[in-house]
Amino acid sequence: MSTSPGEVDQSGMGPPCLCAEFTRVTEAAALAAGRFMGQGDSVVADEAAAEAMRAALRELPVTARVVIGEREEGSAGGIRVGDRIGSGSVDCDIAVDPLEGTDTVARGQGGAMSVLVVGAPGQILSLPDMYMQKLVVGPRAAGSIDIEAPVADNLMAVAQAYDRSVADLTVIMLDRPRHESLVADIRKAGARIKLIADGDITASIAAAVDGTGDHLYIGIGGAAEGVMTAAAMRCLGGQIQAKLWPLSRREVEKAAQHGIDDIEMVLHTHDLVLGDVVFAATGVTGGDFLRGVDYFREGARSHTLTMCTRCRIVRFVDTIHLFSDERREIRL
Ligand code: FBP
Repeated sequence: MSTSPGEVDQSGMGPPCLCAEFTRVTEAAALAAGRFMGQGDSVVADEAAAEAMRAALRELPVTARVVIGEREEGSAGGIRVGDRIGSGSVDCDIAVDPLEGTDTVARGQGGAMSVLVVGAPGQILSLPDMYMQKLVVGPRAAGSIDIEAPVADNLMAVAQAYDRSVADLTVIMLDRPRHESLVADIRKAGARIKLIADGDITASIAAAVDGTGDHLYIGIGGAAEGVMTAAAMRCLGGQIQAKLWPLSRREVEKAAQHGIDDIEMVLHTHDLVLGDVVFAATGVTGGDFLRGVDYFREGARSHTLTMCTRCRIVRFVDTIHLFSDERREIRL
Protein backbone atom coordinates (compact mmCIF):
# COMPACT_ATOMS: atom_id res chain seq x y z
CA MET A 1 0.00 0.00 0.00
CA SER A 2 1.36 3.37 -0.88
CA THR A 3 1.44 6.24 1.59
CA SER A 4 1.64 10.00 1.28
CA PRO A 5 3.85 12.49 3.16
CA GLY A 6 1.20 13.95 5.48
CA GLU A 7 -0.67 10.71 6.13
CA VAL A 8 -1.32 9.69 9.75
CA ASP A 9 -2.85 6.31 10.63
CA GLN A 10 -5.54 5.69 13.25
CA SER A 11 -3.00 4.79 15.94
CA GLY A 12 -1.62 8.32 15.59
CA MET A 13 1.72 6.91 14.45
CA GLY A 14 1.96 7.78 10.79
CA PRO A 15 4.89 6.85 8.59
CA PRO A 16 7.98 8.92 9.34
CA CYS A 17 7.88 12.31 7.64
CA LEU A 18 10.30 12.79 4.76
CA CYS A 19 10.64 16.56 5.16
CA ALA A 20 14.30 16.40 6.14
CA GLU A 21 15.04 14.30 3.03
CA PHE A 22 13.58 16.94 0.72
CA THR A 23 16.31 19.32 1.87
CA ARG A 24 18.73 17.31 -0.29
CA VAL A 25 16.66 18.03 -3.37
CA THR A 26 16.88 21.82 -3.21
CA GLU A 27 20.49 21.59 -2.04
CA ALA A 28 21.38 19.62 -5.17
CA ALA A 29 19.62 22.11 -7.45
CA ALA A 30 21.26 25.09 -5.76
CA LEU A 31 24.72 23.55 -5.93
CA ALA A 32 24.27 22.99 -9.66
CA ALA A 33 22.85 26.45 -10.39
CA GLY A 34 25.30 28.36 -8.22
CA ARG A 35 28.15 27.51 -10.59
CA PHE A 36 26.53 29.78 -13.17
CA MET A 37 26.46 32.89 -11.00
CA GLY A 38 27.27 35.93 -13.09
CA GLN A 39 27.82 33.91 -16.27
CA GLY A 40 25.07 35.74 -18.13
CA ASP A 41 23.13 32.60 -19.09
CA SER A 42 19.88 32.15 -17.20
CA VAL A 43 18.73 29.20 -19.33
CA VAL A 44 21.80 27.06 -18.66
CA ALA A 45 21.65 27.81 -14.92
CA ASP A 46 17.97 26.88 -14.85
CA GLU A 47 18.54 23.62 -16.77
CA ALA A 48 21.39 22.62 -14.48
CA ALA A 49 19.17 23.21 -11.43
CA ALA A 50 16.27 21.22 -12.91
CA GLU A 51 18.47 18.29 -13.87
CA ALA A 52 20.04 18.12 -10.41
CA MET A 53 16.64 18.42 -8.76
CA ARG A 54 15.24 15.57 -10.84
CA ALA A 55 18.24 13.33 -10.02
CA ALA A 56 17.98 14.07 -6.29
CA LEU A 57 14.22 13.35 -6.27
CA ARG A 58 14.91 9.97 -7.88
CA GLU A 59 17.12 9.06 -4.91
CA LEU A 60 14.19 9.44 -2.49
CA PRO A 61 11.59 6.75 -1.75
CA VAL A 62 8.87 8.76 -3.51
CA THR A 63 6.82 8.82 -6.67
CA ALA A 64 6.38 12.55 -7.18
CA ARG A 65 3.80 13.92 -9.61
CA VAL A 66 4.67 17.41 -10.85
CA VAL A 67 1.66 19.74 -10.56
CA ILE A 68 3.56 23.00 -10.82
CA GLY A 69 6.59 22.72 -13.06
CA GLU A 70 9.27 25.06 -14.03
CA ARG A 71 7.86 25.33 -17.52
CA GLU A 72 5.19 23.45 -19.42
CA GLU A 73 7.25 22.85 -22.53
CA GLY A 74 10.92 22.89 -21.92
CA SER A 75 14.16 21.17 -22.70
CA ALA A 76 14.91 17.59 -21.73
CA GLY A 77 16.31 18.74 -18.37
CA GLY A 78 13.19 20.67 -17.40
CA ILE A 79 10.71 19.36 -14.84
CA ARG A 80 7.37 19.54 -16.62
CA VAL A 81 3.83 19.45 -15.30
CA GLY A 82 2.54 15.87 -15.43
CA ASP A 83 6.00 14.28 -15.05
CA ARG A 84 6.24 11.50 -12.51
CA ILE A 85 9.63 11.38 -10.88
CA GLY A 86 10.91 8.41 -8.88
CA SER A 87 9.37 5.03 -8.26
CA GLY A 88 9.22 4.91 -4.49
CA SER A 89 6.35 3.86 -2.25
CA VAL A 90 5.42 7.37 -1.07
CA ASP A 91 3.04 9.10 -3.48
CA CYS A 92 3.17 12.86 -3.45
CA ASP A 93 2.50 15.95 -5.53
CA ILE A 94 5.23 18.50 -5.98
CA ALA A 95 5.51 22.12 -7.07
CA VAL A 96 9.01 23.08 -8.16
CA ASP A 97 11.01 26.11 -9.10
CA PRO A 98 14.51 24.67 -9.46
CA LEU A 99 15.82 28.19 -9.90
CA GLU A 100 13.69 31.06 -8.62
CA GLY A 101 15.51 34.11 -9.98
CA THR A 102 17.05 32.85 -13.21
CA ASP A 103 18.09 36.34 -14.32
CA THR A 104 19.29 37.11 -10.80
CA VAL A 105 21.83 34.28 -11.04
CA ALA A 106 22.83 35.21 -14.58
CA ARG A 107 23.58 38.74 -13.36
CA GLY A 108 25.32 37.51 -10.21
CA GLN A 109 22.89 39.30 -7.94
CA GLY A 110 21.55 38.17 -4.57
CA GLY A 111 18.30 36.43 -3.63
CA ALA A 112 18.05 33.48 -6.05
CA MET A 113 17.02 30.15 -4.58
CA SER A 114 15.90 26.65 -5.45
CA VAL A 115 12.38 25.81 -4.24
CA LEU A 116 10.40 22.60 -3.72
CA VAL A 117 6.92 22.15 -2.25
CA VAL A 118 5.58 18.69 -1.41
CA GLY A 119 2.04 17.70 -0.51
CA ALA A 120 -0.20 14.65 -0.50
CA PRO A 121 -1.74 13.81 -3.90
CA GLY A 122 -4.38 16.33 -4.94
CA GLN A 123 -3.49 18.93 -2.31
CA ILE A 124 -1.52 21.42 -4.43
CA LEU A 125 -3.49 23.45 -7.00
CA SER A 126 -2.16 23.05 -10.52
CA LEU A 127 -2.26 26.31 -12.47
CA PRO A 128 -1.16 27.28 -15.97
CA ASP A 129 1.92 29.36 -16.60
CA MET A 130 0.43 32.86 -16.23
CA TYR A 131 0.46 35.92 -13.99
CA MET A 132 -1.24 36.23 -10.62
CA GLN A 133 -2.10 39.25 -8.51
CA LYS A 134 -1.01 38.65 -4.90
CA LEU A 135 -1.27 40.14 -1.46
CA VAL A 136 0.78 38.47 1.28
CA VAL A 137 1.14 39.14 5.01
CA GLY A 138 2.56 37.34 8.01
CA PRO A 139 0.70 35.89 11.00
CA ARG A 140 0.22 39.26 12.73
CA ALA A 141 -1.85 40.67 9.86
CA ALA A 142 -3.37 37.39 8.64
CA GLY A 143 -7.15 37.72 8.40
CA SER A 144 -7.10 41.49 8.04
CA ILE A 145 -6.44 41.87 4.28
CA ASP A 146 -8.81 41.96 1.32
CA ILE A 147 -7.35 41.84 -2.19
CA GLU A 148 -10.53 43.39 -3.58
CA ALA A 149 -10.29 46.46 -1.34
CA PRO A 150 -8.26 49.59 -2.22
CA VAL A 151 -4.59 49.26 -1.29
CA ALA A 152 -4.93 52.18 1.17
CA ASP A 153 -7.53 50.16 3.15
CA ASN A 154 -5.22 47.15 3.24
CA LEU A 155 -2.34 49.30 4.45
CA MET A 156 -4.54 50.69 7.18
CA ALA A 157 -5.58 47.17 8.24
CA VAL A 158 -1.99 45.92 8.31
CA ALA A 159 -0.88 49.00 10.25
CA GLN A 160 -3.60 48.31 12.81
CA ALA A 161 -2.51 44.68 13.11
CA TYR A 162 1.05 45.83 13.79
CA ASP A 163 -0.19 48.59 16.10
CA ARG A 164 1.67 51.27 14.16
CA SER A 165 0.92 53.87 11.53
CA VAL A 166 0.92 53.33 7.75
CA ALA A 167 4.07 55.47 7.54
CA ASP A 168 5.87 52.82 9.61
CA LEU A 169 5.09 50.01 7.15
CA THR A 170 7.31 48.79 4.32
CA VAL A 171 5.67 47.26 1.26
CA ILE A 172 7.83 44.98 -0.87
CA MET A 173 7.03 44.57 -4.57
CA LEU A 174 8.50 43.72 -7.96
CA ASP A 175 9.82 46.72 -9.87
CA ARG A 176 7.68 46.47 -12.99
CA PRO A 177 5.94 49.08 -15.20
CA ARG A 178 2.63 47.25 -14.59
CA HIS A 179 2.84 48.33 -10.93
CA GLU A 180 3.07 52.05 -11.69
CA SER A 181 -0.39 53.05 -10.46
CA LEU A 182 -0.17 50.70 -7.46
CA VAL A 183 3.12 52.31 -6.47
CA ALA A 184 1.50 55.75 -6.78
CA ASP A 185 -1.41 54.67 -4.54
CA ILE A 186 0.95 53.23 -1.91
CA ARG A 187 3.05 56.41 -1.93
CA LYS A 188 -0.11 58.48 -1.54
CA ALA A 189 -1.17 56.33 1.42
CA GLY A 190 2.21 57.08 3.02
CA ALA A 191 3.86 53.63 3.31
CA ARG A 192 7.49 53.02 2.43
CA ILE A 193 8.22 50.85 -0.61
CA LYS A 194 11.01 48.40 -1.39
CA LEU A 195 11.16 47.71 -5.14
CA ILE A 196 12.96 44.49 -6.02
CA ALA A 197 14.22 43.19 -9.38
CA ASP A 198 13.02 39.58 -9.02
CA GLY A 199 11.96 36.85 -6.63
CA ASP A 200 8.49 37.23 -5.19
CA ILE A 201 8.57 34.00 -3.14
CA THR A 202 11.50 35.40 -1.16
CA ALA A 203 9.78 38.78 -0.92
CA SER A 204 6.59 37.18 0.40
CA ILE A 205 8.47 35.21 3.05
CA ALA A 206 10.34 38.38 4.02
CA ALA A 207 6.98 40.13 4.53
CA ALA A 208 5.67 37.23 6.61
CA VAL A 209 8.44 36.98 9.20
CA ASP A 210 9.53 39.48 11.83
CA GLY A 211 12.94 41.08 11.65
CA THR A 212 13.20 41.77 7.92
CA GLY A 213 11.56 45.19 8.11
CA ASP A 214 8.99 44.22 5.43
CA HIS A 215 5.30 43.97 6.28
CA LEU A 216 3.32 43.36 3.09
CA TYR A 217 4.07 41.87 -0.31
CA ILE A 218 1.81 43.10 -3.09
CA GLY A 219 1.76 42.93 -6.87
CA ILE A 220 1.57 40.79 -9.97
CA GLY A 221 4.02 37.92 -10.39
CA GLY A 222 3.99 34.29 -11.53
CA ALA A 223 1.06 32.04 -10.59
CA ALA A 224 3.47 29.16 -9.89
CA GLU A 225 5.33 31.34 -7.41
CA GLY A 226 1.95 32.17 -5.83
CA VAL A 227 1.24 28.50 -5.14
CA MET A 228 4.69 27.99 -3.62
CA THR A 229 4.21 31.13 -1.54
CA ALA A 230 0.93 29.67 -0.23
CA ALA A 231 2.85 26.61 0.98
CA ALA A 232 5.33 28.84 2.79
CA MET A 233 2.46 30.80 4.35
CA ARG A 234 0.84 27.55 5.56
CA CYS A 235 4.10 26.78 7.36
CA LEU A 236 4.61 30.30 8.75
CA GLY A 237 1.00 31.09 9.67
CA GLY A 238 0.84 33.89 7.11
CA GLN A 239 -1.78 34.54 4.46
CA ILE A 240 -1.90 34.98 0.69
CA GLN A 241 -4.86 36.25 -1.28
CA ALA A 242 -4.57 35.99 -5.03
CA LYS A 243 -6.37 36.43 -8.34
CA LEU A 244 -5.22 35.14 -11.69
CA TRP A 245 -4.13 37.89 -14.09
CA PRO A 246 -4.67 36.66 -17.65
CA LEU A 247 -3.08 38.46 -20.58
CA SER A 248 -5.26 36.83 -23.23
CA ARG A 249 -8.49 34.94 -23.87
CA ARG A 250 -6.32 31.82 -24.30
CA GLU A 251 -5.06 32.17 -20.72
CA VAL A 252 -8.64 32.47 -19.43
CA GLU A 253 -9.39 29.19 -21.23
CA LYS A 254 -6.28 27.56 -19.82
CA ALA A 255 -7.33 28.59 -16.31
CA ALA A 256 -10.76 27.04 -16.92
CA GLN A 257 -9.04 23.79 -17.93
CA HIS A 258 -7.44 23.87 -14.47
CA GLY A 259 -10.85 24.24 -12.80
CA ILE A 260 -10.87 28.06 -12.47
CA ASP A 261 -14.21 28.84 -14.14
CA ASP A 262 -14.43 32.35 -12.72
CA ILE A 263 -11.20 34.15 -13.57
CA GLU A 264 -12.13 36.89 -11.09
CA MET A 265 -12.35 34.50 -8.14
CA VAL A 266 -10.21 35.23 -5.10
CA LEU A 267 -7.87 32.37 -4.27
CA HIS A 268 -7.07 32.00 -0.59
CA THR A 269 -4.11 30.23 1.01
CA HIS A 270 -6.09 27.01 1.43
CA ASP A 271 -7.37 27.10 -2.16
CA LEU A 272 -3.78 26.97 -3.36
CA VAL A 273 -2.34 24.39 -0.95
CA LEU A 274 -4.29 22.06 1.36
CA GLY A 275 -3.30 19.47 3.93
CA ASP A 276 0.17 18.95 5.30
CA VAL A 277 2.91 20.49 3.24
CA VAL A 278 6.70 20.66 3.10
CA PHE A 279 8.45 23.78 1.81
CA ALA A 280 12.19 23.66 1.11
CA ALA A 281 14.33 26.45 -0.34
CA THR A 282 18.12 26.55 -0.70
CA GLY A 283 19.91 29.82 -1.40
CA VAL A 284 21.75 29.98 -4.72
CA THR A 285 22.95 33.56 -4.30
CA GLY A 286 22.77 35.21 -0.88
CA GLY A 287 19.49 36.94 0.01
CA ASP A 288 17.41 38.26 2.90
CA PHE A 289 17.31 35.04 4.91
CA LEU A 290 19.40 32.47 3.00
CA ARG A 291 23.09 32.55 2.23
CA GLY A 292 24.17 31.61 -1.29
CA VAL A 293 26.23 28.54 -2.21
CA ASP A 294 29.87 28.90 -1.31
CA TYR A 295 32.33 26.63 -3.19
CA PHE A 296 35.75 25.59 -1.98
CA ARG A 297 38.44 23.16 -3.13
CA GLU A 298 36.81 19.89 -1.99
CA GLY A 299 33.23 20.86 -1.59
CA ALA A 300 30.57 23.49 -1.13
CA ARG A 301 28.44 24.93 1.62
CA SER A 302 24.70 25.54 1.29
CA HIS A 303 22.01 27.14 3.39
CA THR A 304 18.42 25.85 3.34
CA LEU A 305 15.09 26.72 4.90
CA THR A 306 12.95 23.62 5.40
CA MET A 307 9.46 23.95 6.86
CA CYS A 308 6.85 21.26 7.49
CA THR A 309 3.30 21.65 8.79
CA ARG A 310 3.12 18.06 9.94
CA CYS A 311 6.34 18.19 12.00
CA ARG A 312 5.69 21.84 12.88
CA ILE A 313 9.25 22.88 12.10
CA VAL A 314 10.92 25.90 10.57
CA ARG A 315 14.47 24.64 10.22
CA PHE A 316 17.58 26.29 8.82
CA VAL A 317 20.07 23.73 7.51
CA ASP A 318 23.70 24.67 7.02
CA THR A 319 25.40 21.86 5.06
CA ILE A 320 28.96 21.25 3.97
CA HIS A 321 28.96 18.93 0.95
CA LEU A 322 32.25 17.08 0.44
CA PHE A 323 33.04 16.08 -3.14
CA SER A 324 36.08 13.92 -2.38
CA ASP A 325 37.89 12.14 0.44
CA GLU A 326 40.44 14.94 0.60
CA ARG A 327 39.94 17.29 3.55
CA ARG A 328 42.11 20.33 3.08
CA GLU A 329 39.78 23.25 3.45
CA ILE A 330 36.72 23.10 5.69
CA ARG A 331 35.78 26.44 7.15
CA LEU A 332 33.26 26.44 9.99
P1 FBP B 1 12.12 33.27 -12.79
O1 FBP B 1 13.17 32.78 -11.89
O2 FBP B 1 11.29 32.17 -13.32
O3 FBP B 1 12.72 34.13 -13.84
O4 FBP B 1 11.12 34.17 -11.91
C1 FBP B 1 11.57 35.33 -11.26
C2 FBP B 1 10.37 36.21 -10.93
O5 FBP B 1 10.82 37.44 -10.41
C3 FBP B 1 9.35 35.59 -9.96
O6 FBP B 1 9.75 35.65 -8.62
C4 FBP B 1 8.14 36.38 -10.25
O7 FBP B 1 6.95 35.75 -9.82
C5 FBP B 1 8.20 36.52 -11.75
O8 FBP B 1 9.58 36.45 -12.09
C6 FBP B 1 7.63 37.80 -12.28
O9 FBP B 1 7.58 37.71 -13.67
P2 FBP B 1 8.12 38.87 -14.63
O10 FBP B 1 9.61 38.89 -14.54
O11 FBP B 1 7.63 38.46 -15.97
O12 FBP B 1 7.55 40.15 -14.15
